Amino acid sequence: MATVETITASNQAILSSLQRPLHVVVVGGTAGIGRGIALAYGRHCPTAHVTIVGRNETAANEVLAQLGPRGKFIRGDCTLMSEIRKITPKIDAVDVLVLSQGILRMGPRSPTKENIDDRAALSYYGRVLFVQELLPLLRASPIGGKVLFILNSKFGNPSKIDWNDLGLERNTSFLTGVKQIMAFSDLTVQYLGSQPENANVAFIHAYPGYVKTSIGDNLPFYIRLPAKVFELFGMSCTPDVCAEFMIHGILGTEKGWRLIDEKGETVTNKKGSDEEMLKKVWEHTCEMTSRTVES
Ligand SMILES: NC(=O)c1ccc[n+]([C@@H]2O[C@H](COP(=O)([O-])OP(=O)(O)OC[C@H]3O[C@@H](n4cnc5c(N)ncnc54)[C@H](OP(=O)(O)O)[C@@H]3O)[C@@H](O)[C@H]2O)c1
Repeated sequence: MATVETITASNQAILSSLQRPLHVVVVGGTAGIGRGIALAYGRHCPTAHVTIVGRNETAANEVLAQLGPRGKFIRGDCTLMSEIRKITPKIDAVDVLVLSQGILRMGPRSPTKENIDDRAALSYYGRVLFVQELLPLLRASPIGGKVLFILNSKFGNPSKIDWNDLGLERNTSFLTGVKQIMAFSDLTVQYLGSQPENANVAFIHAYPGYVKTSIGDNLPFYIRLPAKVFELFGMSCTPDVCAEFMIHGILGTEKGWRLIDEKGETVTNKKGSDEEMLKKVWEHTCEMTSRTVES
């Protein structure tokens, strides 16, 4: 197994030798894993244009100070499809799109103004809308577009999808929701990566491992406890280390779709799903991403 030092050196060698400026967009780039990835691209590839998207302006300014003049921040609430449609026109080139926006909140469904579960809106539907809106730019990328969904590619299982409640309107359990969007993310990268018109774009769904970020800070103590044990036994990593493995996974994916693990390597114990399932989830997803505040 390659060490983080080897992976970092390899990422640096590849990214620093690119012949044209790279355009990277990191949604959720103000904190945690996304921040780590944005900064790693900035370090390895000083000519890269790195755009971060999020809400926290103070955190964004701290990232921009490290990125230098090629860094850019776009502020927006990515739980709303209507807001995402206002963000994407501000982006005029993208080779790498990283989708790392997320929240962890227990408790019942809390619908957005567009009547979508807020957690699913942020961690799945809004991510897909970013892809839909930015696909023309990704397809036009001279080096081939790359899209990385950071959620959980190891534990998503299509057999756990509730086909009678795809939009999580009746079953409001936190766990059901998480399982559903993990499985949807697997199916969506497969769907998008199988479309002939996306031949110049690779779609990846990643499990980042246990990464020391503040995402779980608001969870009850008994949920945070196992995470603390992980930390104690050195089973977690920093966002900077995670970022190197995620970039390794991006650089190692040429075309099509791929599920990667916390080391940026292929998840080997999963098979693709059948076309009917992919189509059903895709059609449902398009219905949800087409929502607006007014609808
Ligand atoms: N950390 C882990 O161990 C772990 C493990 C497995 C999976 N994951 C997944 O990896 C992803 C990233 O996790 P993380 O640990 O890096 O989380 P994090 O440190 O809390 O960062 C979350 C990012 O999402 C953005 N965000 C949250 N709500 C937003 C909103 N309404 N609109 C726009 N941006 C919003 C935040 O930016 P603002 O605050 O600026 O809005 C921040 O940049 C999540 O999907 C998480 O479920 C994490």
